[in-house]
This record gives sequence, structure tokens and C-alpha cells, in this order.
Amino acid sequence: MNKIKVLVTGGCGFIGSHVIHKLLDYDSYKKIVNLDLLTYSGHPENCGDITDKRYKFVYGSINNKGLLTKIIEEEDIDVIFHLAAESHVDRSIDSIEPFISTNIDGTRCILEVIVEMNNNHKNIKLIHISTDEVYGSLNKDDKPFNENSQISPRNPYAATKAASDHLVLSFVNTFNIDAVITRCSNNYGPRQFPEKLIPLMIMKMMNDENLPIYGDGKQIRDWIHVEDHVDGIIAVGEALDKGIVSPGEVINFGGDNEKTNLEIVDKILQLFGNTESKIEHIKDRLGHDRRYAIDSNKAKNILRWYPKIKWEDGLRNTLKWYIDNTDWAKSITSGEYRNWINKHYN
Ligand code: NAD
Ligand code: TYD
Repeated sequence: MNKIKVLVTGGCGFIGSHVIHKLLDYDSYKKIVNLDLLTYSGHPENCGDITDKRYKFVYGSINNKGLLTKIIEEEDIDVIFHLAAESHVDRSIDSIEPFISTNIDGTRCILEVIVEMNNNHKNIKLIHISTDEVYGSLNKDDKPFNENSQISPRNPYAATKAASDHLVLSFVNTFNIDAVITRCSNNYGPRQFPEKLIPLMIMKMMNDENLPIYGDGKQIRDWIHVEDHVDGIIAVGEALDKGIVSPGEVINFGGDNEKTNLEIVDKILQLFGNTESKIEHIKDRLGHDRRYAIDSNKAKNILRWYPKIKWEDGLRNTLKWYIDNTDWAKSITSGEYRNWINKHYN
């Protein structure tokens, strides 16, 4: 497809902002519209420095079907990269309602609008961004999850993502829409909201605070640099366009980089150097999944995609980014940018 016009949902969040910056590197993308509700984890500054005329920000919700329709019609959108979500497990344990509203019902709105647009002679392609957490938890010696592994979510966040994946697949089957699903392991990198393990620990080290590890800290996650994940997401969009992947397919991405939480925090402590912070084992997360690991051979074989960023380089650069961007961290955690939203939009 020549000169693609793209809608990114959740483009002011962590991964979405990297998607937008990366899409702008390619001439083949003629228009990139970012629809974001700027919830607590979305910061306008994440895309604030973009001056490229192909980029447009729209403040609003994926749950607003009228707004979605207007954007798709007026901007003549061809492809949607859907990243808008409630994304943190601990918050989903505290209160599931926003997860159901955004992750399930918001995805339902996108799917219904695609069907309505397609009935109106459009052919919108959807790349639905999901997570390895839909597969559930592994034991130490189990093989990593692949695309055929059973869907078995074990926390409310994962359950809402699994539900949205099922909705997408049901719309491919029932309404013949062109959608694919990507499932990735834990991302790290610049601009991640400091509630997730790596940025939270960095911020605490900067403030000489103790480092809260849930339970024994021997839980395992696979970690991938956000830019490697984004390369994969964009490659999937291109592969769907070229017919290399078909509607209804699922593609996993991972970093081949399994670590225990204690290993992660020890490594950051070592890279950080001078801090008073000490590891403090605290009460375990409810229903804490023990191990996630993912087999990305399908992506490697079909897309010729590989995670390129070495763990130690990626972690060192991430640490440097947080140290160099203390104002960003202060602004996003204080929510002070809400004044900007109120001034511009309310
Ligand atoms: P994030 O929390 O950093 O960003 C989410 C963004 O969505 C924010 O900008 C927020 O303002 C926006 N948003 C929330 N509700 C919205 C609504 N109703 N309408 C429009 N915008 C809304 O999340 P993230 O880490 O960037 O995750 C992005 C996607 O990737 C999610 O779907 C998540 O499930 C998936 N994912 C994340 C990871 C990870 O490690 N972070 C791993 C695999 C998959
Ligand atoms: P997190 O970054 O929340 O991602 P997810 O739960 O989606 O994998 O957590 C990563 C791991 O770190 C997870 O096993 C929970 C653990 N963790 C802590 O031990 N302490 C913390 O303060 C946080 C936020 C997470």
C-alpha cells in the first residue's frame, strides 16, 4: 500500500509514543493520528516534540464511537494500531472497572466502527496489541508460550486483554475484518510510567528510598526493549498489508531474556552506583504469576524480526534517560500536566 494513513490509539502512553516516533521515520506513512484520552499514564509530552506535519493529536476516548468514526472518515484512515489500554496489573487488582471499560468495551467500539466503515466501502486493517499475560503462568521447566498455547489469564488485567483478543478474533470470523493480534512480553525503555518494576525502582533509587520486592522476588519475566517490540508491531502491519500474515493470526514477541525480579533490581542497583536504597521484601501481589516466557520463532521466521537491543545496553540507556529526565517523571507522577489538558481542551 502506498502512503498509508494510520490511527494509533494510546499514542501518548509508553509503547504508543514509541510507535508514533518510529512510524514518522518512514516516508511510507502519510498521516499519523494519535487518539489518546491522557489518563494517568498518558503524557502529552511523550509526543510533544513532534513538529512533523504528518502528525496530528486528537484528545479523546476510544469508547467514543462518534469520534472514532469522524477521525477515520475525515483522515481517511487505512490502518489502526490499537494500544490504548489500562495496563497495570496492580491497579486491576484494586479496581477492575476501568479495565473492563477501556480494554474490553473500548476495543468493542473500535471493532464496531471498523465493521460500519467496511460496510461503507472501506477496508480498515487492525493491529491489536496484546500481551503474553493472556497465556497465564509457567512453571520453571515449562516450555515458553507459543501462539497455540492455551489462553488462561490469571489476573484481572490479563483477563480483560484476553477478552479483547477473543472479541477481535470473533469479529475476524463473523464480520470478515482484517485484524491481527500481537502478544509481547514485558517491555522496558524510556517513557514508561513509574509504576512498572524497572522505572519504579530507578525512581526510588534516585530518591534513596527502599526497593519494594513482592514476596521472594524469584518470579520470572521475559524483558524486551520497547523499540524491538515496536519494530515487530510495524512489521506486522506491513506483513498484513502484503498478505504475508492473514486476518486472525497471532504473533508473539519476546526478548529471549528471562530474569527474576531480584536479578533485575540487583542489576539496576549495580548500574546506578551511589544510593542508600535497599531491597525490601514486602507482601506478595495477590495471585502473582510465577513465570512468563515467550517463543517468538513465528515472528523470526515469518517477519525476519529479531530483538536487537542487548539487555545491558538497553537497561543502561533506560537508566540514563530517567536520570536525564527528572522533570518528565515529576510531571507525570504529579499529574501537573492535567493543567495543560484543562487549558487546551476543557
Ligand atoms: P500505558 O499505560 O503506558 O499507555 C496507555 C495509553 O492509553 C495512555 O496514553 C492512556 O492515556 C491511553 N488510554 C487509556 N484509556 C484510553 C481511552 N479510553 N481512550 C484513548 N486512550 C486511552 O500502556 P503501555 O505500556 O504503553 O501499553 C500499551 C499496550 O501494549 C496495552 O494494550 C498493553 O496491554 C500492551 N502491552 C504492554 C506491555 C508492557 O510491558 N507495557 C507488554 C505487552 C503488551
Ligand atoms: P510489573 O512491571 O508490574 O509488570 P507485570 O506485572 O505486568 O509483569 O511487574 C513486573 C514484576 O515485578 C512482577 O513480577 C511484579 C514485580 N514487582 C515487584 O516486585 N515490586 C513492585 O513494586 C512492582 C511494581 C512489581
